[in-house]
Amino acid sequence: MTDVDPKARIAGVFDRAAPTYEQTGVEFFAPPGRALVARAGVRTGERVLDLGCGRGSVLFPAARAVGPTGAVVGVDFAPAMVAATAEAAKDLPWVRVTSGDAEFPEFPPGSFDVVTAGFMVFFLSDPAAAVARWAGLLRPGGRLALSTFAEATAAGQAFLADRAAALARFQTPDPATAGPSSASREWVAALFADADLTDVTMTEMTVETFFDTGERYWTWWLSIGSPHQLARVPAERRPAARAALTAVLDAHLRQPGGGYRMVTPMRLTVARRPD
Ligand SMILES: C[S@@+](CC[C@H](N)C(=O)[O-])C[C@H]1O[C@@H](n2cnc3c(N)ncnc32)[C@H](O)[C@@H]1O
Repeated sequence: MTDVDPKARIAGVFDRAAPTYEQTGVEFFAPPGRALVARAGVRTGERVLDLGCGRGSVLFPAARAVGPTGAVVGVDFAPAMVAATAEAAKDLPWVRVTSGDAEFPEFPPGSFDVVTAGFMVFFLSDPAAAVARWAGLLRPGGRLALSTFAEATAAGQAFLADRAAALARFQTPDPATAGPSSASREWVAALFADADLTDVTMTEMTVETFFDTGERYWTWWLSIGSPHQLARVPAERRPAARAALTAVLDAHLRQPGGGYRMVTPMRLTVARRPD
């Protein structure tokens, strides 16, 4: 098996996902994006750094909150994400979208009022070290705001386990190694242990998503970076894999009146750089 640099692999997944990411008519990352900016208390005129900005679920609410007297910089390592978000922000001269590794952002110490990172900290090679580094980019009193997934309910866990098992029967093995679950409160709390940050608060929220057809679910699921899951299914096995997955969807998410309803628990964590 060839060793693939995990970062190059993740960047490739999101680069391929970028054209459709959060663009299939289903809002999934947008509600936590808006909520993260609100929880961070982003105000008119502030300077915000949005790490792993993707298609801008956090970046655009932040841009609205700071207005033209503020500044927002988005960083992502997937070139197609950077290109699409820069294009969408072209009429907002106070917004800049740039390519780079968000784990090692190159900005002067203390140069931001707020640093945000929506659903990306769990992709990093050393998330706790990154959080400590990000804290150094904040001015005294500045805020760091992260979103992550939260613990699934028993029903949610059963759905995710059955979905993974259905797919695993058809997939070639994944070279990535699974770490501890980033959906636990303890995992997130540990990220802040050695950072120069105080007043760590966590807020849980759920996002409810409705899909009128199974087809719409799959279009959405593939749009958020899951094509790499299907890429590991050999072409001749895809029809069977898809049928197995549809059965899982029917068993877990089907609603009596038709369609599928999914509820996803998420966590917003905000901390402050001491004054
Ligand atoms: C799940 S998406 C979230 C996008 C956006 N923050 C949101 O909430 O919708 C994760 C994003 O982080 C980016 N990303 C992950 N690791 C990164 C890194 N080390 N440097 C820069 N971008 C990274 C990916 O390319 C992807 O666009």
